Amino acid sequence: MITEPSLPTGLAAWKDLEAHHDRLATHDLRDLLRGDPDRVRRMTIEAVGLTADFSKHLVDSQALASLVDLARQVGLAERIEAMFTGARINVSEDRSVLHTALRLPRGASLVVDGVDVVAEVHKTLDRMASFSDEIRSGSWKGATGHPISTIINIGIGGSDLGPVMAHEALLAYSRRDLQFRFVSNVDTTDLHEAISDLDPATTLFIVASKTFGTLETMTNASAARGWILKALGPDSVAKHFVAVSTNEERVRAFGINPDHMFGFWDWVGGRYSMDSAIGLSTMIAIGPDKFHEMLAGFHAMDEHFRTTPFERNLPVLMGMLAVWYRNFFGVQSAAVIPYAQYLHRFPAYLQQLTMESNGKRITAEGNPVSWDTGPVYWGEPGTNGQHSFFQLLHQGTTAIPVDLIGFATSPQGERQDLLMANMLAQARALAFGKTAEEVRAEGTDPAIVPHRVMPGNRPTTVFLARVLDPFRLGTLVALYEHSVFTQGTVWGIDSFDQWGVELGKTLAVKIAPMVKGEQEPAFDASTNNLIARYLALQKETS
Ligand code: F6P
Repeated sequence: MITEPSLPTGLAAWKDLEAHHDRLATHDLRDLLRGDPDRVRRMTIEAVGLTADFSKHLVDSQALASLVDLARQVGLAERIEAMFTGARINVSEDRSVLHTALRLPRGASLVVDGVDVVAEVHKTLDRMASFSDEIRSGSWKGATGHPISTIINIGIGGSDLGPVMAHEALLAYSRRDLQFRFVSNVDTTDLHEAISDLDPATTLFIVASKTFGTLETMTNASAARGWILKALGPDSVAKHFVAVSTNEERVRAFGINPDHMFGFWDWVGGRYSMDSAIGLSTMIAIGPDKFHEMLAGFHAMDEHFRTTPFERNLPVLMGMLAVWYRNFFGVQSAAVIPYAQYLHRFPAYLQQLTMESNGKRITAEGNPVSWDTGPVYWGEPGTNGQHSFFQLLHQGTTAIPVDLIGFATSPQGERQDLLMANMLAQARALAFGKTAEEVRAEGTDPAIVPHRVMPGNRPTTVFLARVLDPFRLGTLVALYEHSVFTQGTVWGIDSFDQWGVELGKTLAVKIAPMVKGEQEPAFDASTNNLIARYLALQKETS
């Protein structure tokens, strides 16, 4: 058993934070801002092309200092160094965690287990670039001699969410004469809808799977291979399938030539892999140069995280504020609202990053935690969210911290005053609300006054940047990655494994023959009954 002093809840800073929480209970954001004329300057941080306004958080200087103390007392600085230098901090899988090496510039060096991983990374990036150029120029020909016009990424989880999110986010920088589609769901309708209007002769599939064993991906890949073979004949797979994986043997067994495989390494977690070869579809869409700009954005945030004092360190402050709300206010969820339609899949991407990383109840040492860990992350683009769930954000019974992400100009070169006016209005309304007095002063019917009161005091971080481009997308993703790491370090958990998803997967394999009617249901009464109902309903439909 680990000893009490090394538990986060036993640390001096944790106790201080409990006291700060009690002290701040009588304050609200109105007095915190009014009583401290220097607050906004102090709590606005400019780094790596991002402006982050933390001034609308329920902290004062003392509470913030204790959050930074807590980060120190849990050994965050040592953990950061351990991650960046390749220590095996993914203890339950005995792996290094080196997604930061994926964006080290050419010529840098990081030797892990005797291998210079940077050289390996750039070898793969160069192969990806040649392949992307071939597709983009039309020199890569399909089995019938036609160039490729549609690229379909088949993958799930980290092998899907990053590529889809990046594709949508960077659409303005993408080749519009190439189409990109993404198939993830084992629901046959997903592949069906993706291919039904396509010509196999001009379609390329990227089968993206770290393990090359994921049921959904392999099922979809096999069906896609059947579609290609049926239309183009027995030798067509080589020209219409490439693989992104760490498992060469399985890629070969599937029938893809390893020359058409782009590798990565077991030290890249699935949800941390959009900047590895898993980003092949992104590179084809935006081209190798822009992909390298994205990597430079990731790297700039990595450097900021590794070298900036915690007091001015964006991911550290963000992560520690998440801990503050989760552990001291009992907050159960956090919203991310991009005021950029191009980022419409960013919240979905973050859901895997945050919840697969920090949805844990056991410490890295294997003991149950006695403190809360990862909150639920969710979100939608503003302003759409305003006309949907913002009601609860403003007047619901729980305060939910919100990240608002906005840009000064659109990638389409337009100013976006109205969009930004909405974002700033929401941040202000969430923080300061509207008192009964203010509502009454507007001449509101007294019976309606309570309904129109907005309690305010709902914390937000506003992130502002010049424009959404590949560089800034890289910085944003790395910002969240390192915030997740900061939180996981405080909670003492392994943020890089995902054992919780395994049981459902193995059960699905066992249930498959039962729902096909090939085996008698042999589970609990409820599952058995549902299998029976499923089979009965199928009979009714046929
Ligand atoms: O089911 C969870 C998971 O293991 C994720 O962590 C991963 O991103 C996803 O499945 C896909 O795995 P693979 O890339 O090996 O197909």
